[in-house]
Amino acid sequence: MKLEKPDPRIGAIATDVDVRSLSDADWNHLYAAWLEGIVLVVRGQTLSMEEFLAYSRRFGRLKPHRVRRTRHAQHPELTVMGVGTRKPDGSVDRAIYNRGGGWHTDSPWDTEICKGTQLYALAIPSYGGDTLFASMYEAYDALPDGLKARIDGLNAEHVYGGRARKGNDLLEPEDRDLPPAVHPVVRVHEETGRKSLYANPTHILRIQGLGDSESDRLVAELTEHMVNTPAQYRHKWSAGDIVIWDNRCALHAATGGYPIEEPRIHWRVTIMQ
Ligand code: OGA
Ligand code: MN
Repeated sequence: MKLEKPDPRIGAIATDVDVRSLSDADWNHLYAAWLEGIVLVVRGQTLSMEEFLAYSRRFGRLKPHRVRRTRHAQHPELTVMGVGTRKPDGSVDRAIYNRGGGWHTDSPWDTEICKGTQLYALAIPSYGGDTLFASMYEAYDALPDGLKARIDGLNAEHVYGGRARKGNDLLEPEDRDLPPAVHPVVRVHEETGRKSLYANPTHILRIQGLGDSESDRLVAELTEHMVNTPAQYRHKWSAGDIVIWDNRCALHAATGGYPIEEPRIHWRVTIMQ
């Protein structure tokens, strides 16, 4: 197995390895590279659905996504991304085409934080469709001391799609008004012990204890720091890539911009701690 780091702060890329037959040493290296790199790419895999699920379970328990209609019928813990980019009337279904667009972490609207999201690329368009990742360890570390002091001890409420309920139409009606989940704005990573900023601009509803406009202003201020951190990795997909990212300490964003007529299909799992 070969492991490369595109940047010392974020990203790890593994090649010359088959995740179906990992030695214990290679598994330990991969897991450590993921924790350190936040985003781990394993190139060139050929997996059945069962093999992808079995490999994913090595990271932790899998949880079916709240969006029910993109769950796989036989394996509800598996979401199929990118099917149905056109509606029956021929118009583009933006909720599918742009799913994951806008900086966010996954599942902050759940009371239990998910540790990772893992995607396996089945079909990749000829251009566009990259995914961006940003380190929230680095974003937190680089905050001015005054801002660090202001956010110390604050908690934020999150709902699916935030105040605008963006993408809410992917949810079944009975799942649209679930109560917010509350998480600290500065979180300590369960495995690395590092502090990171957790104020997801897509799904945040409000910071508790502040008025709506004060909360919006603070989220906007934090967002500038989160999305402008130079500690970023841009993944250009190839079919056969597996990418896992750590939702406890990173934001990510799908960039779109790929031809609508070309398939961009991934299998996706949510991995719990
Ligand atoms: C996700 C997501 C980004 C992408 O699956 O949670 O945000 O580029 N995906 O598909
Ligand atoms: Mn996402």
